[in-house]
Amino acid sequence: MPFFYYPPPARPVLVGVCGRNRDRVKAFAEKYGYKRTFDKWQDLVKDPDVDLLDICTPPYLHAEPSILAFESGKHVLCEKPLARTAEEALKMLRAAEKSGLKHMTGFNYRFIPAVSYAHKLIEEGFVGRILNFRGAYLNIEVGDLGYLNPEFPLDWHFRSETAGYGAISDLGTHIIDIARFLVGEVASVAGATATFIKERPLPEFPDKKGKVEVEDSAVAAMKFENGALGTIETSWMAPGRKDFLRFEVNGSEGSVRFNLERINELEIFSLKDPNERRGFRDILTTSGGHPLMDKYWVEQGGGFGWDHAFVNEIHHFVDCIAYDRKIEPAGATFLDGYKNCLMMDAIVKSAEEERWVNVGS
Ligand SMILES: NC(=O)c1ccc[n+]([C@@H]2O[C@H](COP(=O)([O-])OP(=O)(O)OC[C@H]3O[C@@H](n4cnc5c(N)ncnc54)[C@H](O)[C@@H]3O)[C@@H](O)[C@H]2O)c1
Repeated sequence: MPFFYYPPPARPVLVGVCGRNRDRVKAFAEKYGYKRTFDKWQDLVKDPDVDLLDICTPPYLHAEPSILAFESGKHVLCEKPLARTAEEALKMLRAAEKSGLKHMTGFNYRFIPAVSYAHKLIEEGFVGRILNFRGAYLNIEVGDLGYLNPEFPLDWHFRSETAGYGAISDLGTHIIDIARFLVGEVASVAGATATFIKERPLPEFPDKKGKVEVEDSAVAAMKFENGALGTIETSWMAPGRKDFLRFEVNGSEGSVRFNLERINELEIFSLKDPNERRGFRDILTTSGGHPLMDKYWVEQGGGFGWDHAFVNEIHHFVDCIAYDRKIEPAGATFLDGYKNCLMMDAIVKSAEEERWVNVGS
């Protein structure tokens, strides 16, 4: 069945892809239809045919390519976390603003219909005045034991120079973005962090061990600027949790809650329901009429998958470039990426100093 849009969706061409291993990059390019391959990211960024750079490297390699891209007249979609620290993110934000080009941070979970619908309901006043936010992002990274395996090598995730932070940068950054997306700015935080496995084998010398420099788990209490209170928790060592991003927002008139492991559903509760019928209702958010579902074959409420959030994210970014639309609030800009880094910095500082810390702006 044909689909018709007005204006028509922008159709980007995959110009080039870069990686360090020439053969693997060539195989990748052939598989996905990229025209050119590069083994130096600077050459890809400067290619005159490239209009939009999608940065998927580890956090230590987000700032330099972004800044060079803006200086070379290219729009940038950069993976989360935007940078290792707020100081680094601010340089990226300044370069983005100076360029006048479009910029987006890869907070793909905003592009899940249930999350987008929660945002819409809250904006429309469904929960009333927001009182509490509760969020968690827990999983067990890669494989059976994942990072619980003490022999898992000390790759870039475990070094502050390459990752910034640990579970907070990897997972917590997403739940921080959702807290800001749904509730608003956070004024101050009180955090605690823990590193459960303190040494791991060095990838280059497996007989030797190196120090783990980042946290495996973190918790934080938050005071929002609008007076709401919140908590967040993150861990990459939570057996049984495969991709457990959970949030609940309680307001004066109702609540919404979501679990990424049930990606198609949003649970809603309204105090306006008659007393005897009160309870959380499960809304299947992948039917027609729900946000972001106009581009899918939805007559039967067919399911939506984790990877579709990336499809929606890139579709949104390309459309915003092609038709000069605003990235936010549907998408997160570099300003959101910077504010997210301010939150991460504040949580870690608060944990180190064992006190409440203002997030700043
Ligand atoms: N939004 C999400 O849900 C999500 C999910 C996973 C990862 N991420 C983010 O994506 C980024 C990468 O994470 P990952 O898990 O894919 O890491 P990874 O280590 O699996 O992949 C990193 C890639 O960067 C390439 N690379 C590294 N140094 C390079 C260099 N000097 N030049 C060219 N290429 C280089 C590597 O070859 C590799 O292909 C991180 O910022 C991570 O937080 C986001």
